[in-house]
Amino acid sequence: MPDQLGDLARTHTCGALRASDVGADVVLLGWVHRVRDLGGVTFLDIRDRGGITQLVVRENDALMGVAKRLRSEFVVAARGIVQRRSEETVNSKLETGEVEVLVRELRLLNEAKTPPFQLAEDASVSEDVRLRYRYLDLRRPRLQHNIGLRHRTTMEIRKYFDASGFWEIETPILTKSTPEGARDYLVPSRVHPGEFYALPQSPQLFKQILMIGGADRYFQIAKCFRDEDLRADRQPEFTQVDVEVSFARAETIFQLIEPLMQRVFKLIGREVALPMRRLAYAEALSRYGSDKPDLRCGLEIQDFSEVFRESEFRVFRQIVAEGGAVRGIVLPKGNAYSRGQLDALVDQARQMGFAGLVWARPGEPPSSSVKAIGEASLRAAFARGSASRDDLLLLAAGGAEGVSKLLGQLRLHLAKKDGLLDPDRFEFLWVTDFPLLEYHAEDGRWYSMHHPFTSPHPDDWDKLETDPGAVRAVAYDLVLNGSEVGGGSIRIHDAALQARVFRRLGISEEEAKARFGFFLEALEYGTPPHGGIALGLDRMVAILAGESSIREVMAFPKTANAIDLMAGAPSGVDPRQLRELHLKTQN
Ligand code: AMO
Repeated sequence: MPDQLGDLARTHTCGALRASDVGADVVLLGWVHRVRDLGGVTFLDIRDRGGITQLVVRENDALMGVAKRLRSEFVVAARGIVQRRSEETVNSKLETGEVEVLVRELRLLNEAKTPPFQLAEDASVSEDVRLRYRYLDLRRPRLQHNIGLRHRTTMEIRKYFDASGFWEIETPILTKSTPEGARDYLVPSRVHPGEFYALPQSPQLFKQILMIGGADRYFQIAKCFRDEDLRADRQPEFTQVDVEVSFARAETIFQLIEPLMQRVFKLIGREVALPMRRLAYAEALSRYGSDKPDLRCGLEIQDFSEVFRESEFRVFRQIVAEGGAVRGIVLPKGNAYSRGQLDALVDQARQMGFAGLVWARPGEPPSSSVKAIGEASLRAAFARGSASRDDLLLLAAGGAEGVSKLLGQLRLHLAKKDGLLDPDRFEFLWVTDFPLLEYHAEDGRWYSMHHPFTSPHPDDWDKLETDPGAVRAVAYDLVLNGSEVGGGSIRIHDAALQARVFRRLGISEEEAKARFGFFLEALEYGTPPHGGIALGLDRMVAILAGESSIREVMAFPKTANAIDLMAGAPSGVDPRQLRELHLKTQN
């Protein structure tokens, strides 16, 4: 039987004691982090959320008996007197390292099995083991820090929205499908045979209905569910900071979110300069080859098409003549690349999908492979790219968008390789003016780039039927260091325009009614103009914590195969439950 806690009440966390506490009678509660038995004296490091404190147990029958039984991760309560450590035993790595507690009373509150990995050491442990024993991993400093930071972030967000006149309103989890482009998680209904709820991919329709309902300013720290292919920055259930504002323009949303980011980044001691940069989607693609460019490095993509329009180099000339483009990147100090490194880079580019990558350096005579381009064209290209003697010019040709996207990948590859992406820099960017629609050749249809409730740009309404690809949306993404941390738009508030967009998407009136009838009906009862945004909380906290995977900032994440290794979900269910739900499985 373990000892009882009895009347012992914590006076300090294990991270609190300092030299100024010397002489105090204290009670600490926590886990045994490390035991060092030196015969006549035993040192115990005990740990809780606050930190680690050294306890000293001296030769004394009753106490030593308990102390000798202690192992890593046993749970203990200790009462004792704070004393200063001798000069040579001060531990500068611990915040409590100047003191120790001479134990007067020690209770073993619980034993622990030997952990599958050492918590006291920073040893690398496979992620599967960490996830399987998440409760142990959660005791380690890395996750304690990350989960604490996540808490402080959500508190800061809540305080900010409250002070700005927002209401936090919960929206249903058992609901109807919301179109965010992923597959739904479905929940079968017991009382309505053959019918299903869908878990929300986002609260999109409900937050819009809240605007119709006069909520005016809404936010929610909302769980969202998407059955999609997972990556380091995607989980099947994740958290959005979901926001909607009545009578909003895009500018209203920018001016709301920018100071919020400023406050959140203060949590890690960083100043965010405002206003944030903005870039139209088309420009982001042509200059950085991405709709979420990482602006920590320059390496802008430049257009060299005019240089090669009349050039003697047939391949480039022909591509430009056929409406394609020659684009490239000037890599500063690229003359340091050896021939071997350049060959590897060209190979790498081929693997990325480049048809070819041409390199040339102003500081040296053209290699045989670039001779074909001709001296005059090369000189013109160097001048166009303002390439100096130390630089390297990389060129590729093809369809304008395709070449830019490939160069965008190459740009990031080079930036990573050359250490140009400073982990300590935070570059925010609003990407605006997304296209409203994208065409999918597989099924010959137009799809919404965001969701079908996004407002087309008022200047482009007349092109909805005639030139759908050219219609811009009043949609924006918030990008931070190349990661999409948020996305939103001004919504359609006019039922007739909403119907036009559905028609353009090939969604028939019946289908629209079946899928979003409740929303379309609400739209006709006095909908105010409105708009909003959703921030990816997990992605934001991961960046704040300097983590590359959002799993590191979630208490109970799933694996890349959407498995909860600790709880063992998903799992089979009792046949009786299936019968009650009117379900049969195929295997
Ligand atoms: P969107 O689909 O762009 O917009 O999502 C908003 C933000 O949520 C984060 N995010 C994710 N984070 C982790 N795992 C995922 N699977 C995942 N999917 C998305 C991203 C993203 O920018 N209803 C709209 C918002 C609006 O229009 O107001 C929406 O959900 O950081």
